[in-house]
Amino acid sequence: MAIDRRNSGSNSMWGGRFGDGPGDIMREINASIPFDKRLWQEDIAGSKAHADMLASVGIISNEDNAEIQRGLTAVHAEYQLNGVPEDLSLEDIHMVTETRLRELVGEPAARLHTARSRNDQVATDFRLWVRGAIARVDAGIREFQSALVERAGEHADNIMPGFTHLQVAQPVTLGHHLMAYYEMAKRDRSRFADCAARLNQSPLGAAALAGTSFPIDRNATASALGFDAPIANSLDAVSDRDFALEFLTCAAQTALHLSRLAEEMILWASQPYGFITLPDAWSTGSSIMPQKRNPDAAELVRGHAGRIMGCMTSLMVTMKGLPLAYSKDMQNDKPPVFEAYDLLALSIAAMTGMVSNVTFNGARMREVAASGFSTATDLADWLVREYGLPFREAHHVTGSVVKACEARGTGLDAITAEDLAAINPALAGNKLPDLSVDGSVASRTSAGGTSPVRVKEAVAAAKKELES
Ligand code: ARG
Repeated sequence: MAIDRRNSGSNSMWGGRFGDGPGDIMREINASIPFDKRLWQEDIAGSKAHADMLASVGIISNEDNAEIQRGLTAVHAEYQLNGVPEDLSLEDIHMVTETRLRELVGEPAARLHTARSRNDQVATDFRLWVRGAIARVDAGIREFQSALVERAGEHADNIMPGFTHLQVAQPVTLGHHLMAYYEMAKRDRSRFADCAARLNQSPLGAAALAGTSFPIDRNATASALGFDAPIANSLDAVSDRDFALEFLTCAAQTALHLSRLAEEMILWASQPYGFITLPDAWSTGSSIMPQKRNPDAAELVRGHAGRIMGCMTSLMVTMKGLPLAYSKDMQNDKPPVFEAYDLLALSIAAMTGMVSNVTFNGARMREVAASGFSTATDLADWLVREYGLPFREAHHVTGSVVKACEARGTGLDAITAEDLAAINPALAGNKLPDLSVDGSVASRTSAGGTSPVRVKEAVAAAKKELES
């Protein structure tokens, strides 16, 4: 039985009480099919689980269920082949699919929506989609971590300047710096895992908002769809989108971390730094300046983070004033989630590619690491250890040494035992510290410190973590 999908009077799904169909603008503002067609697989899976359950408890016949299953499998194959048709008059993915099902199998299709509403249907579809998205994001971040660990292992001994206030502070190892991002990524994954665990409950069977008078089995649909349990309260099930918001906050936090690394790469690639060279594949040229090599991918990762945060804000603002239960505002939950996912997936892939392929200019990093009296803290620590000075006093003495070196135009490594004795007679011990950048990083063996020994341990532990 074919259904006339054109603008022929009232809507075929809910138009029983309507004389006229919606006007063009109403149809356009109401339609979500242009974006929610992305839920087609989840929608079909949800309908199959619902129909199986309806048959198993005797609400529909096994024959009708068989037709529904056959029809939904056929719709799945059609969508896979040709995409989902965008019929604005059918509003959304739920009605487009049900309409096509009815064209294919006839009357049994009209029994599918028993004990169900689009409100619990869309909440179910969307949870399933976000669950899948989290699995893909997690796999992406894992790749990113592997790239970081790989490069950190290569550069466990290589020196770079560590900064505070963007001033050269103390030498660190490049491996240590990269492993800092590994740790951030690890927490990002753990946040997504928490989100996945909390969202994994089934709204299906909440119906419009109040539950249903039919003897449905919510545990059956929940477990068929891989949920841990049905959501306890039907109003909550159809009206909250905290799972989508939590996904967006996780995405925003991850994007923020990627953006910081992107920003560092942009700085490092600029001529005054000269710390890295991005490969051709990750650079773009200028249409006017032939010499240019721009880090556009990193800039876009930094830029995308802003858009992802905007997606999070968009849904928070949408939800904050809504009374229970469902309101159509909530249809606007999908575009920001889809947009944030797409931008994040691309950002993760781009950062993974850049980390894997960037060339680190070790000599330049080492040169800058040795500048700015970066081992002054090592001198102060040495005075504490060798002469038992209180740290505050050692700090003061070192300040005088730095001042003297500055006046002479030398580095700290040029100081002599006489210099020390001249500043403070108590230091006339004829001893001199190792103030090289290598000595400095090698000495920082405290747990979590920058010494190559600790970095190599961290890399080994991370490799083990990534394997498990
Ligand atoms: N397309 C709708 C959405 O995504 C489905 C739910 C519609 N429910 C309703 N009662 N109009 O929110």
